[in-house]
Amino acid sequence: MSLAGKKIVLAVTGSIAAYKTPHFVRLLVKAGAEVRVLVTDAAAQFVSPLSLATVSKHPVLANVSDGATWNNHVELGLWADVMIIAPCSANTLGKLANGLCDNLVCAVYLSARCPVFIAPAMDEDMWLHASVQSNIRKIQRFGNHIIPVAHGELASGLVGDGRMAEPEDMVKHLAALFGTERPLKGIQALVTAGPTYERLDPVRFIGNFSSGKMGIAIAEALAAKGAQVTLVLGPSHEHTDMAGIKTVKVESAHDMYDACIAAFVNVQIAVLAAAVADYRPQVREAQKIKKNEKEFTLALTKTDDILASLGKIKKAGQTLVGFALETNDELAHAQEKLVKKNADMIVLNSLNDAGAGFGVDTNKITLLRQEGKPIALPLQSKKDAAIAIVNHILELQHAEKIS
Ligand code: CTP
Repeated sequence: MSLAGKKIVLAVTGSIAAYKTPHFVRLLVKAGAEVRVLVTDAAAQFVSPLSLATVSKHPVLANVSDGATWNNHVELGLWADVMIIAPCSANTLGKLANGLCDNLVCAVYLSARCPVFIAPAMDEDMWLHASVQSNIRKIQRFGNHIIPVAHGELASGLVGDGRMAEPEDMVKHLAALFGTERPLKGIQALVTAGPTYERLDPVRFIGNFSSGKMGIAIAEALAAKGAQVTLVLGPSHEHTDMAGIKTVKVESAHDMYDACIAAFVNVQIAVLAAAVADYRPQVREAQKIKKNEKEFTLALTKTDDILASLGKIKKAGQTLVGFALETNDELAHAQEKLVKKNADMIVLNSLNDAGAGFGVDTNKITLLRQEGKPIALPLQSKKDAAIAIVNHILELQHAEKIS
């Protein structure tokens, strides 16, 4: 198990879901992790620190200074390989989003240099409140990992979103971080990312606002699972130095097409996340176009559709994934692309969803496959969305192997 020997700080805050944390600690310890538990005063109302101390086999810490002892938050923050705040109440979330520090949990969070996971838990109305959602987006932008809330019965008796993820699922999220499971070892993958630029003349081009972040996150998630990735990247300020990724820089849709056709024969997975220009200027002027006329009409020619071209030559054993960026009738348009381009999966993002789309660090995606219902995932960081996409690709490959 990939958590063996990992040092984990678990911070428990005030929510009824805290009653699940002794079981969570047991699972972590069973997986070989070393666990130190912190509680807020409110958490201690919901779960006994004695239970947590017993299962973690270490004293539970509550205050920066307990009696005459100074609990060194900086030291704990440096000790941890990963910190998880579970359950994370709306109150603690608000503090994390704003840099407040009135207890040991916040002090360790601010001192931690390791990845931090946050598993929110609260009633649905609280969860959906604009201030809580804004805090979630804020702490995602700081680079924290959010473990999505689950749907189900809540302590209020209502049924809805807001339950803390199950301990077993939280263990999986932590294990995925350390990536010692490398199910894609020996597998070659192709990923496209970023925009394309179509030149009009020596100084101008037609482009779009794609940042390349989503595609790069997918390349990294594939490499973390052991794949050898060719990343065909359009003009982007983003880059990756991760081992296992070879970046091929291109400018136009035509360059990207050539690079993809060359790479595709050798890959088992292709994920086309680039925002490829659909049209390019019919003529590329050798000299700068002068503004002589009152009106100017630009003639455009369709570019080759890379996804559809790969869909045509795809062989058994190759998994082809495309994206669909839509503004209206999203599901219908994405479904049409899935069929028309012969993809195995389409990742739909709608520009109507707050926090999704170009430039931002978060995304809200829906996955459409040839079989089964669309899977709508919650708003999450692009890194977490990439991990989810790769996990679904693994499922598709597994399904093909046993069919
Ligand atoms: N795509 C591609 N080559 C193109 C255009 C798009 O490979 N010339 C790929 C994109 O990388 C994405 C998918 O096709 O994976 C869908 O892109 P999108 O822009 O949503 O759709 P289009 O096919 O361009 O259709 P439309 O613009 O009409 O929505």
